[in-house]
Amino acid sequence: MRYAEDMGQCAGCHGAILARLRRIANVCRIDFQPEQAKRWRMDPAGKLLIVWHSRTGASRAMAEAAAAGAATAARVAGAEHVMPADLLAAAGYLFVCPENLASMSGAMKEMFDRCYYPVLGRIEGRPYATAIAAGSDGEGAQHQIDRIATGWRLRRVAEPLIVCTQAQDMAAILAPKTVTPEDLARCRELGEALATGIALGVF
Ligand SMILES: Cc1cc2nc3c(=O)[nH]c(=O)nc-3n(C[C@H](O)[C@H](O)[C@H](O)COP(=O)(O)O)c2cc1C
Repeated sequence: MRYAEDMGQCAGCHGAILARLRRIANVCRIDFQPEQAKRWRMDPAGKLLIVWHSRTGASRAMAEAAAAGAATAARVAGAEHVMPADLLAAAGYLFVCPENLASMSGAMKEMFDRCYYPVLGRIEGRPYATAIAAGSDGEGAQHQIDRIATGWRLRRVAEPLIVCTQAQDMAAILAPKTVTPEDLARCRELGEALATGIALGVF
């Protein structure tokens, strides 16, 4: 089915679809021209895999928001459960985790260690993005994931998203986290954009 042509039979539907595509183009690295929409086709099998780990709740809330944005076009899995077959079955990835000691969290790193060689050379060119929860920084975790993704020859298709939870002393760091509605909205948008872009094959 052509996404913008066959589904958008009426002017209202067509407008809504184009608006959605424009939102994707705002979040992701694609040069969207309305004319292109006529060539894009929905592929319901093209699924986003959202891999997450969280210690005090922020990354979990961010992954859930991204999943809500992606709706049925995503599968959500805790990093500790993700196996090479899950990565092979997905068409693109969103990695969501906290920065701990200037690194990605241990459970997320263990997922990469477990899966790196079994999928090496088999997922090249697929799109990915990251969403990091951090007390004050987050770039260490994000750069580590980028280096691993470069090894896999994945393509970053959205700007890095870092949510700063302002947790900087022991009490704040150990406390359960609440993510602001604005930051959750950014995660929701990212999930929607990635999942729709993957399903349309625009990356
Ligand atoms: C052991 C530990 C180390 C941390 N190290 C960093 C750090 O290096 N940089 C940073 O910005 N935040 C650091 N933080 C703060 C967390 O990134 C922050 O609390 C984040 O919101 C946690 O996300 P989560 O709720 O998903 O676990 C650290 C937290 C813990 C528990």
